[in-house]
Amino acid sequence: MTAGLLTEEILEKQHDESRQGQLFSGVKITEDAVNPHRKFYIETYGCAMNFSDSEIVASVLMSDGFSATTNFLDADLVLINTCSIRENAEQKVRNRLAELRRIKKSNPDALIGVLGCMAERLKSKFLEEEKLVDLVVGPDSYRDLPKLVTVAEDGQKAVNVLLSREETYADINPVRLNSNGVTAFISITRGCNNMCSFCVVPFTRGRERSRDPYSIVTEAKQLFNESYREVTLLGQNVDSYFWKSESSGESTTFAQLLEQVAWINPKLRVRFSTSHPKDITDEVLFMITKHQNICKSIHLPVQSGSSEVLKRMNRTYDREWYRSKIDRIREVIPGCGITTDIISGFCGETDDDHQQTLSMMEYVKYDMAYMFKYSERPGTPAAKKFSDDISEEIKSKRLSEIVELQHLHQHEMNISEVGREYEVLVESTSKRSKDFFSGRNSQNKVVVFPKKNFQKGDYATVRIVDFTSATLIGDVI
Ligand code: SAH
Ligand code: SF4
Ligand code: F3S
Repeated sequence: MTAGLLTEEILEKQHDESRQGQLFSGVKITEDAVNPHRKFYIETYGCAMNFSDSEIVASVLMSDGFSATTNFLDADLVLINTCSIRENAEQKVRNRLAELRRIKKSNPDALIGVLGCMAERLKSKFLEEEKLVDLVVGPDSYRDLPKLVTVAEDGQKAVNVLLSREETYADINPVRLNSNGVTAFISITRGCNNMCSFCVVPFTRGRERSRDPYSIVTEAKQLFNESYREVTLLGQNVDSYFWKSESSGESTTFAQLLEQVAWINPKLRVRFSTSHPKDITDEVLFMITKHQNICKSIHLPVQSGSSEVLKRMNRTYDREWYRSKIDRIREVIPGCGITTDIISGFCGETDDDHQQTLSMMEYVKYDMAYMFKYSERPGTPAAKKFSDDISEEIKSKRLSEIVELQHLHQHEMNISEVGREYEVLVESTSKRSKDFFSGRNSQNKVVVFPKKNFQKGDYATVRIVDFTSATLIGDVI
């Protein structure tokens, strides 16, 4: 066994399955490798929580003597962390698996493992469908990976898809996989207790559980000490975060957790995602205004602008309630960035329902939106109760109207940004030019600006002078 420092760049296929997923284009691993003989390769699809999980997986495997490789053909263990949110997310994984299986030709002993939501949804059926897969591991079983690898090495199929009511991986120190060295994700809850009728997540991720706030704050402090300057607290529904200490009986709400993280240092930015409109409280809104380092940016998925559709979606709010939440956010936090998710063509959606979604967009004028066609997921309440009765053609037509309106709104907003000044956290060199840095303002908008003497992790005050569709262009003041 040799110990040493191993630095590898893993270039990962860019994917676009989920909103947070779009943030990821590359993966970088820097870690002490204890045993360079066994190598793992991991590829991740889906939401930020899945990416955060891959960092846990890397940590578990590295503690077991694995090192990371950038080249799947060089790996002894090829892992794919999967997403089930829409049919095309699963299709993408299947296509990729077909390519990854090439490894068996050059290295017949290499193991292929499927992790994450698709593993959980299909369980051992996966092994029947995809015969060359050796391990199937659900999101709550990653601690078991070393054991499962041993089972698979013995030639047996290894499956663990048990969901837990307690597992939060609180004590595992994630290996930062997508590190720009400035921004990082911290999972604060796992699972989801809502039952939005279209959604597979409660089935793939299990019951909601909150992570010990002490471990969250410790992780954030450690990141700050390692020069990170922004943490995003992650959960399917962060506002329902709640922790009660068994020893002291003291409880922590999401707003209190936000404050504890904000207190670490004024130079550490705090973001969070996702907020369910029914759960975000005034306490959270006021906490955002209380600390300048809690970002003025709220992702508040609306899904539909029609109360009828929202009812069938079991979102538990209606159009009026959602609008009043928006009004409240604008009142308490002027200038707050608001982004959303929209589904077009849900079961029974009429043209009038669709018009109401467009009018909701007109009302809110979202800074950004992730827009999807409804994709029926087997076993969900919607699949059981309703017919997926909107034709592909109408779904596409409605989606393109939604996308077009969103682009128009973003263009209008970009025009009004010109002349404004923002504090931008410097994240990385801009993809467009090596002389420019790229970063984001508090509202989560990407801003590029000349490098001057700034360094990654600095805060730059920038005046917006121009824009492209998704990026603001600034001058340093
Ligand atoms: N917990 C988050 C959403 C996680 S899934 C929330 O409650 O907002 C991310 C997004 O995928 C959802 O907001 C929804 O817009 C979309 N989505 C989920 N299931 C879908 C389905 N069956 N078809 C199309 N889009 C879906
Ligand atoms: Fe899915 Fe709804 Fe839970 Fe979000 S809140 S993960 S959409 S069930
Ligand atoms: Fe996909 Fe699972 Fe996330 S279904 S969106 S990876 S929670």
